[in-house]
Amino acid sequence: MNDKILNDIATGYGTPVYAYDTEKIISQYKLLKNSLPKEFGIFYSMKANPLMGICQLFKKLGSCIETASSGELHTALSSGFSPDKIIFTSPGKTYEELKYAVETGIYNINIESLEEAEVINEIAAEKGRVVDISVRINPDFDIAGSGIKMSGVASQFGIDQIHMGSEFKELKTLTNLKITGIHIYTGTQALNAHSIVQSMEQIIKLALDTSEMYCFNLKFLNLGGGFGVPYFKDDSTLDMDIFRNEFSEIWDKYKDSLSDTQVFVESGRFLMAESGTYLTKILYKKECKGRKYLVCDGGSNQHASSAFLGRHIRNNFPMHILNKSGNEEQVNVVGPLCTPTDVIGQNVMLPETVAGDIVAIEKSGAYGITQSPGLFLSHPLPAEVQYYEGKTYILRERWEKEDFMLRQKPMDKNLL
Ligand SMILES: Cc1ncc(COP(=O)(O)O)c(C=O)c1O
Repeated sequence: MNDKILNDIATGYGTPVYAYDTEKIISQYKLLKNSLPKEFGIFYSMKANPLMGICQLFKKLGSCIETASSGELHTALSSGFSPDKIIFTSPGKTYEELKYAVETGIYNINIESLEEAEVINEIAAEKGRVVDISVRINPDFDIAGSGIKMSGVASQFGIDQIHMGSEFKELKTLTNLKITGIHIYTGTQALNAHSIVQSMEQIIKLALDTSEMYCFNLKFLNLGGGFGVPYFKDDSTLDMDIFRNEFSEIWDKYKDSLSDTQVFVESGRFLMAESGTYLTKILYKKECKGRKYLVCDGGSNQHASSAFLGRHIRNNFPMHILNKSGNEEQVNVVGPLCTPTDVIGQNVMLPETVAGDIVAIEKSGAYGITQSPGLFLSHPLPAEVQYYEGKTYILRERWEKEDFMLRQKPMDKNLL
């Protein structure tokens, strides 16, 4: 999407606004699909962007979907995914969520603890059913160089590799469950293709050993992914040619042993991040104690990750000013919140601006509005808009001030 398109979106839908480039989503999906062996499936991790319209696009592209709450499961079903294309994974699934997942008959519930398996077993027994589960293992290895490690360290995720013996023994006594799969997710935001391949080979070995040792048919193997996106100055692009070439060699070694197994990767960020732009308008330009501030109508309340949420290093998302170039100045881009943490660009070099100009934060298609504290200070929530071949389509309407009253009740009159 060029600046003219983005400007039309900002004018047409108001700021702040999220805009998603459909062609970019399609090309990322194809890139991932074509980098994998042809037998592999992809789960779109909808936590990255749970809009129904986006889920529908992934369904159209042939993807399956990974959900992490009953809300996501409901959206996935509403988007037209058939239950046999859906998995459910999360360390904290409630009884009601598990009941919903069992009732809808999804492909697999991924269990993260023995206690959770016992709850599913109870629900399945009540319904006279046998439910397929996969077991998430927290292995002793991780994914070298990933942004956030999600294995090899203590965490709330999965069953510890060293406790597998006792846990599988217990799992096998739960007669209304059938262990059909293994899931391992080693980390997110990995930019080194070689490390991803190495970690996936370790996952394959561990899954094969586990199914042999604990005597179950490995019908389903979820290798995770962690495919990353270069956001920051020193980030390198994940080389999918290296991934494809190295992984196909690995696959040649294991494909016979996995001929009866459906193998998947899962991905959210890689598929979505690059497609999105967050547009926020400069309301005021001010100087304070020698520093310049661009005060915008949207900030960390709607794009928390650009304000360093969940990151250890304070670096800036790529950003530019729509339709402006020329003399640059060092500025801080801030939102409208009453907190000094509301900084979405710190000491950034941007062309000189005036109030009314629009800041475009790039690579904002994943973990944007839904990973942000949007209710904080009740500022209107941005519309989310899809762009495709010269046209725009609304995917979520802007929340106006009245929408913040949604589901609120006045205090009981006796207490007034
Ligand atoms: C289990 C699991 N699967 C998939 C993902 C999606 O990761 P990404 O968006 O980096 O592809 C995550 C992210 O934390 C996760 O925890």
